Amino acid sequence: MIHASPALVIAGSLRPQRIALRIAEWVAEIGRETMNAAVEVVDLKAWPLPMDDEPGVPAAGVYEHEHTRAWSRKIAGGGAFVFVTPQYNWGYPAPLKNALDFLYREWHGKPATSVTYGTRGGGKAADQIHQVFEGLHMRPLGTRIEVAIADDHVNQDWQLTDVAAAMGPYASLIRQLDAEIIEALQDSQ
Ligand SMILES: Cc1cc2nc3c(=O)[nH]c(=O)nc-3n(C[C@H](O)[C@H](O)[C@H](O)COP(=O)(O)O)c2cc1C
Repeated sequence: MIHASPALVIAGSLRPQRIALRIAEWVAEIGRETMNAAVEVVDLKAWPLPMDDEPGVPAAGVYEHEHTRAWSRKIAGGGAFVFVTPQYNWGYPAPLKNALDFLYREWHGKPATSVTYGTRGGGKAADQIHQVFEGLHMRPLGTRIEVAIADDHVNQDWQLTDVAAAMGPYASLIRQLDAEIIEALQDSQ
């Protein structure tokens, strides 16, 4: 165990036919092997956070709703974050931004990076979320992964036919990312 707190892999798409979860599970599995640590997938779909429904600002840390308090406990308990997110129209999905904006101090000082995906890898979504990491005073890692989903990785419904085939070329980069998480967590001890 590198750290008492698990690394959280946050799956950023809520679409009924999303591929985010399978990619997140794959990233988490490599993380468990590489870091010999607890790595947990957080499916945003399991964390319904009504858009901006807290009366106070998140920076005050006073939450009226139980869903916010539960989300706060979850994120406060995370040691590092890997955001697995698609690119939607050159950005990242609104529910993911909402989930980030719901909290403030809970994110502070924690290593964070992204695994974005799309037909060209989702680099524009990665640029945006890394800027937000800075706004939230996280510690953006150097390695960020852009997964280009090719036509032969998906069927006609744009479902991954073989996640290992699509993600295999990125395995060494994911291990590099995991090594950066370990280093960042050791620095903060
Ligand atoms: C609203 C929307 C916008 C999209 N915009 C982009 C885009 O800007 N670039 C891209 O490569 N793919 C884009 N796509 C295709 C997605 O990469 C693809 O649908 C992917 O499966 C979405 O991830 P998800 O299935 O986990 O939701 C878009 C898809 C949706 C639904």
